[in-house]
Amino acid sequence: MSRKIVVIPGDGIGSEITDSAVAVLKKVSEKYNLDLEFETHPAGGTAYDLCGTPLPDETLNAAKAADAVLFGAVGGPKWDNVDPALRPEKAVLGLRKGLGLYANLRPVKVADALVEYSPLKEDIVKGTDILIVRELIGGIYFGDKCESEIHNGAERAWDLENYSVPEVERIVKFAMEAAKKRRNKVTSVDKSNVLATSRLWRRTTAKVAENYPEVALDNLYVDNCAMQLAINPSQFDVIVTGNLFGDILSDEAAVLSGSIGMLPSASIGFSTSLYEPIHGSAPDIAGKGIANPVATILSAAMLLRYSLNEDKAADDIEQAVDKALAQGYRTLDLYKEGFKKADTKTMTEAILNNID
Ligand code: NAD
Ligand code: IPM
Ligand code: MN
Repeated sequence: MSRKIVVIPGDGIGSEITDSAVAVLKKVSEKYNLDLEFETHPAGGTAYDLCGTPLPDETLNAAKAADAVLFGAVGGPKWDNVDPALRPEKAVLGLRKGLGLYANLRPVKVADALVEYSPLKEDIVKGTDILIVRELIGGIYFGDKCESEIHNGAERAWDLENYSVPEVERIVKFAMEAAKKRRNKVTSVDKSNVLATSRLWRRTTAKVAENYPEVALDNLYVDNCAMQLAINPSQFDVIVTGNLFGDILSDEAAVLSGSIGMLPSASIGFSTSLYEPIHGSAPDIAGKGIANPVATILSAAMLLRYSLNEDKAADDIEQAVDKALAQGYRTLDLYKEGFKKADTKTMTEAILNNID
């Protein structure tokens, strides 16, 4: 029986990188007879231009009905001044909420071939292997907000952060289960010296951890965690944190791997799972054919592993990426003299050639 993958390219470099990932999925599909079916749907600024909304019902419904969703990125300066409720970013937030994707997994690994690209010294970054588990449908992103009001004679805006015990419990359980399959360590990141939501987060985490005696739990304030990621990243196994802290820390951690263009993600919840690179639509390089497709290609590998249980095909893709890097192919974000300068197409071809 065929399995349906809904592809949502979005804006900017979105279509360039999802085209690459679909080509790679098609190649492993042929090799292993996976019988994949692809269906493309609009979202983001592109959808806003097309039908006046960043997330058409038809796109959300198609995502719900699919076996998995491959997402590119949305947003761009063209839509910076549209009504905030219709901004392109609402598409990704609406898909996350609509699909109940509460757990966002962002694995940060440093490929041997790229250790020297990290802005950190080789001996610090070597061996980094972190899984960031970011809560994705709660917190300040989805609390009440006010775009503008007059208070004491001045205009102000506000965003409310709230977390309930069940919301924290389910994400911490997810992190604990993930740690059991890794190195049995969870670092929970909060700001409980200041925020009430963080104090509830820390209390709840401690309770959940009682059921996982084999997992070592550590708590860090987010400011210290940001520093620890730069001075000693290999101390981390699984990091679990809320929506906003997870967003910021994962961009910081992405740099350890040399470029944000390398980091994939999986978002998992109650319905179809969604896979996307952690980077955005990169408007500064969109349309030039030079974006690094690796984060999206590795997201496709996660899709095969988590949604379709096709571990062998996923392994093949990850190994093909490692090989292409070892062969010296580098997109511009990672290019140094002496290597093979690759645009998106060349990098994709190099990866495809390593899948036989
Ligand atoms: P960005 O991640 O798009 O770009 C940051 C920098 O990284 C840019 O210099 C860009 O060229 C570079 N970069 C990103 N991906 C790259 C790749 N694959 N290859 C090479 N270089 C790459 O972040 P931004 O500039 O802050 O945001 C641009 C737009 O993207 C905004 O509208 C933002 O809201 C949106 N955004 C969307 C998502 C998403 O759809 N999930 C994620 C992050 C940002
Ligand atoms: C990400 C992005 C999104 C986020 C934006 C585009 C809503 O930055 O996926 O990391 O903040 O979650
Ligand atoms: Mn982000």
